[in-house]
Amino acid sequence: MADERWRRKRIGDRVLSPETLMMGYGYDPFRSERSLKPPVFPTSTFVFRTAEDGKSFFELAYGLRAKRPNEEPGLIYSRINNPDLEMLEDRLAIWDQAEANLVFASGMAAISTALWAYARPGTAIVHSGPVYGGTDFLLKRILPQFGVTPVEFAAEGGNAAMERAVDVARAAGPVAALYLETPANPTNGLVDIARARELAESLRAPDGRRPVVVVDNTFLGPLFQTPVALGADLVVTSLTKYVGGHSDLIAGGCSGTAAALEPIRGFRTILGTMCDPQTGWLLMRSLETLKLRMTASADGALTVARFLAAHPRVASVWYLGFLPGDHPDRPLFERQCASPGSTFAFEVEGGEAEAFAVLDRLEVIKLAVSLGGTETLASHPASMTHSDIEPEAQRRLGITPALIRLSVGIENPDDLIVDLDQALRG
Ligand SMILES: Cc1ncc(COP(=O)(O)O)c(C=O)c1O
Repeated sequence: MADERWRRKRIGDRVLSPETLMMGYGYDPFRSERSLKPPVFPTSTFVFRTAEDGKSFFELAYGLRAKRPNEEPGLIYSRINNPDLEMLEDRLAIWDQAEANLVFASGMAAISTALWAYARPGTAIVHSGPVYGGTDFLLKRILPQFGVTPVEFAAEGGNAAMERAVDVARAAGPVAALYLETPANPTNGLVDIARARELAESLRAPDGRRPVVVVDNTFLGPLFQTPVALGADLVVTSLTKYVGGHSDLIAGGCSGTAAALEPIRGFRTILGTMCDPQTGWLLMRSLETLKLRMTASADGALTVARFLAAHPRVASVWYLGFLPGDHPDRPLFERQCASPGSTFAFEVEGGEAEAFAVLDRLEVIKLAVSLGGTETLASHPASMTHSDIEPEAQRRLGITPALIRLSVGIENPDDLIVDLDQALRG
């Protein structure tokens, strides 16, 4: 799609910032009628110049031969590749500081395709808890049907809990993956990515190699946390959230080395879990404002969290910026995260009835699941996103009936405070 001129990442000694590169990286206007913005390529298939070209493109796509020096994969069919998706993947890899990226139809498509590409019958997946409800269902209800055993540890239990889970899994057989969600949805519990990598180095996966470390970076990614730089092999993100940023699309991404992504690419081609070109184009549009949006939301979240922490009807606020100096997660937060982000939970005084009453009284803030959009959303994890989790496990993981999750958008935070105050006072 573009020669090296359109893939420059530096000018002289200056390495260009991701937010600068988002305006055009990987796109050559002179191949598309000089259009400033890339067109959408809503095509299912691509015309080969010659039959020999078609043969050669398939050989490479299906791994029948090695890539030649500087060879670009030829466009074949939009389940395999598409110009919008390739440009988007190049740009997402820049944010994730990864060699490559693959985009999917949803965050769950990214997570399930990635885990399925590595899990094998008789293996275990060690994972943190809580994780997003859909991921929890995949790990505990779907993968076991294929002979894959989930071994959970509570993020709250720190490295000791993760080490114990690894020992349990190791005793039972090969470990396919260590899967971490950090910060965790909805508790903002943190998991030590570097320690997970060390543990993975001490384990063997079924193919004789070590298990992969997979991190769900949806809450802070890609701006405020870079798991690949901290030791993750693969980083999965629900692009539906901050990257899409306008609550108007569903998509997912997976970044890592080209080698670690290779089996996932193969599974994506056959499962057909890729993103569509129109959504890919919208995501490129969104990437241009990603830094502005995430920074503004994080600023607003700090203001709102401070207000909630001082409110008489609020029992606790689980905002990462408030971690006390002596909390075991504090050094981890400072090492792993560049900001507390803008999604956090708080408990009202009381239980489900009191939480529901607050949610039902909100006027500016919308009562909806999801996060990372321009608008502020509030939801009730125990009865909504995490309702698949047994009540006992919910309590153990900190998902209490009084917990409300807030994703702060880019409205004026003083308006959000007035809304929350009236809703809390009733
Ligand atoms: C942390 C996390 N991971 C993954 C997902 C799944 O993403 P999607 O809804 O795009 O499939 C979500 C959705 O809320 C999430 O919060």
